[in-house]
Amino acid sequence: MNLSLNKDKIIIIDFGSQVTKLIARRVREQNVLSEILTLKDLKKNNIFQNVKGIILSGGPSTVTNSLFPKIPNEIFNLSIPILGICYGLQLIAKQFKGKVKSNIKKREFGRAILMKKKNSLLTKNFFNKNKSVVWMSHQDSVYQLPAGFTKVASTTQSEMTIIENVKKRIYGIQFHPEVTHTTNGNIILKNFIFNICKAKKQWKLKSEKKRIIKEIKQKVKKDKVICALSGGVDSSVVALLIHKAIGKNLKCIMVDTGLMRKDEFKTSYKIFKNKYKLNVKIINASTIYFKKLKNIVDPEKKRKIIGNLFIKIFEKEAKVFRNVKFLAQGTLYPDIIESRSVTGSKTSKIKSHHNVGGLPKKMNLKLIEPLKEFFKDEVRKLGNSIGLVKSISKKHPFPGPGLAIRIIGNITIEKVKILQEADSIFIQELIKNNLYDKIWQAYAALLPVKTVGVMGDSRTYEYICLIRAVISDDGMTADYFNFPKEFLDEISNKIINSVKGVNRVVYDITSKPPSTIELE
Ligand code: XMP
Repeated sequence: MNLSLNKDKIIIIDFGSQVTKLIARRVREQNVLSEILTLKDLKKNNIFQNVKGIILSGGPSTVTNSLFPKIPNEIFNLSIPILGICYGLQLIAKQFKGKVKSNIKKREFGRAILMKKKNSLLTKNFFNKNKSVVWMSHQDSVYQLPAGFTKVASTTQSEMTIIENVKKRIYGIQFHPEVTHTTNGNIILKNFIFNICKAKKQWKLKSEKKRIIKEIKQKVKKDKVICALSGGVDSSVVALLIHKAIGKNLKCIMVDTGLMRKDEFKTSYKIFKNKYKLNVKIINASTIYFKKLKNIVDPEKKRKIIGNLFIKIFEKEAKVFRNVKFLAQGTLYPDIIESRSVTGSKTSKIKSHHNVGGLPKKMNLKLIEPLKEFFKDEVRKLGNSIGLVKSISKKHPFPGPGLAIRIIGNITIEKVKILQEADSIFIQELIKNNLYDKIWQAYAALLPVKTVGVMGDSRTYEYICLIRAVISDDGMTADYFNFPKEFLDEISNKIINSVKGVNRVVYDITSKPPSTIELE
């Protein structure tokens, strides 16, 4: 990976926690470069160049088994500060010959009260009256300190909640400072990054933008690049960055599947064509999409059909442009992290997201992935720094298969129209009420059931419209948004009164897990 050379960085060794990515994000929020590595990566050459600190993540393993993932002991002798979080703490304790045991009676999930036992550089300005609220998720606990370590803080259930070896600059904490439920968690991370590791703030998106544009120029030279543009944040930022680097040698293709939000595709097309003067071609493929999706109910089948059709159309259109050598893709850092296995175990596939690594392989084009080192929020900021209009840079994520996976059951043109109307009302109301930017993703979906209603004095028998709005950090977990009752009343009224074909509105109040963000 070509993450900026010569920059101070903190590496996170991933033991498979659901929130490892959050640690990396939190570090970058402090303007310090972070990179997530697996145990395998540690074998590569020069991996510790410019590394100012190492964080060992949490994970599902237990050091109480005879076999457990560990780091080579040499890493403890590199004189690089180390912070172990959850499993990371237990691993430090175990590798330094302390004692860890699994204890169902003493497990802690969720909120816990941490009590200070002594001062530490790691916890400077962290406690309030020697106490703090932290978020825990563990069953194993360290019960005997390794030689050279001291106890910094405890909860009633786990005595060694924070431990340190000041001489070796090795720290371990049982709770998760990276999640927002831990009060002042970022103070712990800041203390580690700046006071202990002495890392410099060298991760600035402005300089990254310049670097990316320069690298694209050097890589592409006088050749041509092709890009599938959807009007979502990622592909828009990719297109604009490449356009800044090589101008008209970038060719963009927008495939209109007919399954986009109301008017969105045309609006984005106009912006790219007129405002940014991109070389962009729009392909109206809705007829073939509706034909191929007729009577298809299974969500995964829908995804496959849409993904394969997209590739076919894209390949055909790409041929029109001659001498194309590169294909640009909006792959993000989380896509790269998620597509590799940390512990060797394969997690079960929930959904196949067709846009992750799914564009034509047989076209024999070299890939350009300018965003592969960035998180979504960083991509939005990059977008702002290159003048991307707010209506795109702030846009909620939208799935590749579009409304097809928001119309449960079979898809018809009529249902798409109903859904587009309802969805548009919902989104406009969110914007009008200053709620849009507080929500990570919001949409309307159409359920395949009709129910009875009464409008005027007549009986109606129409579809149910479901609305969903979630807050989330990166889409891996999510909570439903807590709307004021008045807003829900307003939305329900507006949708029922304006959208023919819907006579009932329901609000989805499930989090992820156990649900997913999309319904299919
Ligand atoms: P789920 O529904 O898995 O969604 O909780 C997590 C995020 O991924 C998006 N999503 C998709 N994106 N193709 C995509 O490009 C897909 O098939 C797909 N399915 C879900 C979803 O909108 C959310 O942002």
